[in-house]
Amino acid sequence: MAYNLLKGKRGIIFGALDEKSIAWKTAMSVHAEGGTFVLTNAPIAMRMGQINELAEKTGAQIIPADATNVDDLDNLVAKAQEILGGKLDFVLHSIGMSVNVRKGRAYTDEKYDFTAKGWDVSALSFHKVMQSLYKADAMNEWGSIVALTYMAAQRVFPDYNDMADNKAYLESVARSFGYFFGKEKNVRVNTISQSPTPTTAGQGVKGFDGFISYAEKMSPLGNASAQDCADYTLTLFSDLTRKVTMQNLFHDGGFSNTGVSQEVIEKFS
Ligand SMILES: NC(=O)c1ccc[n+]([C@@H]2O[C@H](COP(=O)([O-])OP(=O)(O)OC[C@H]3O[C@@H](n4cnc5c(N)ncnc54)[C@H](O)[C@@H]3O)[C@@H](O)[C@H]2O)c1
Repeated sequence: MAYNLLKGKRGIIFGALDEKSIAWKTAMSVHAEGGTFVLTNAPIAMRMGQINELAEKTGAQIIPADATNVDDLDNLVAKAQEILGGKLDFVLHSIGMSVNVRKGRAYTDEKYDFTAKGWDVSALSFHKVMQSLYKADAMNEWGSIVALTYMAAQRVFPDYNDMADNKAYLESVARSFGYFFGKEKNVRVNTISQSPTPTTAGQGVKGFDGFISYAEKMSPLGNASAQDCADYTLTLFSDLTRKVTMQNLFHDGGFSNTGVSQEVIEKFS
C-alpha cells in the first residue's frame, strides 16, 4: 500500500542486516512511500553482503559507520546530505547488541567491559547519532528521529539481561535529546517499543521461541511483526505526527497493558 507519505523526504536508516531486520522492512516501506535515504551499518556487518541487495532494491547508497565512532557518524551525516541533496527529514536507529548475551553471561555474572561495549553500541550510540546530526544542523524542521526499544526497560524479563538497562538508557536519551531537538530545531524524537520479533538480534535472546509464543498469546492483537513496525515507523516519519515527541510508544498488540489473557489462564487451570 503506498500513500506517498514520504514523498520528497530524505533520511538515514541504520541497522539493516538481512531481510528479517526491522530496518530492512522499514527501508523497503520508506522507499515505497517515496522517501530517499542512505543505508548504513557497522563495517563488520557489511561483510555479510546482504545490504547490497537492499541498496539495489531501494536505489540507496551505503555508507559504512560504526555507530559508536563519532568520526564515522560525522562523516556519515555529511556524506548523506551530499548524496541526497539537502538536509534530512528522518533517521532510524535500529541497533542493538549485548556482548554479555552473546557470550552467555548471566545478568548476575556480567563482565563489565562487555557491559560497557553493549551499552555503547545499543544506547550511547543513539546520543552520538543525534549529537552528530545536531551539531551539523543536518535535520530539516519538523524532521523525525526514531529508535527501537523493548519493554524490558520498564518490566523485568530475566533473559533480556543487560539489554534491559541499555533500553532504559536509550529511552531516557530520546526524552532528553528530544527536548533540545524540539526547542532548537522543531525536530521530534521518539522510541518505538516493539513486540518480540524473529530477527538476528531477537533470536539471540535466550528462550526466545517460548517467549515470542507467550507474547503472542498475551497480546489481544497478537505480536506486531517487523513489517507492522515498519508501517508504524512510516507514520512517525510522516507529517501526520508532527507534535508527537519525547515519547516511548508501545507497538506490541496490547501486550504492555494486558495483565493476563484467557489463553494463558487456561494453561494453568
Ligand atoms: N527483535 C526483537 O525482538 C526486538 C524487539 C524490540 C526491539 N528490538 C530492537 O530493534 C532494533 C533492531 O534489531 P532487529 O531485531 O531488527 O535485529 P538485527 O540483528 O537485524 O539488527 C541489529 C542491527 O544492529 C547493527 N549493529 C550492531 N552493532 C553496530 C554498530 N557498532 N554500529 C552500527 N550498527 C550496529 C547490526 O549490524 C544489525 O544490523 C534493535 O534496537 C533491537 O534491540 C528488537
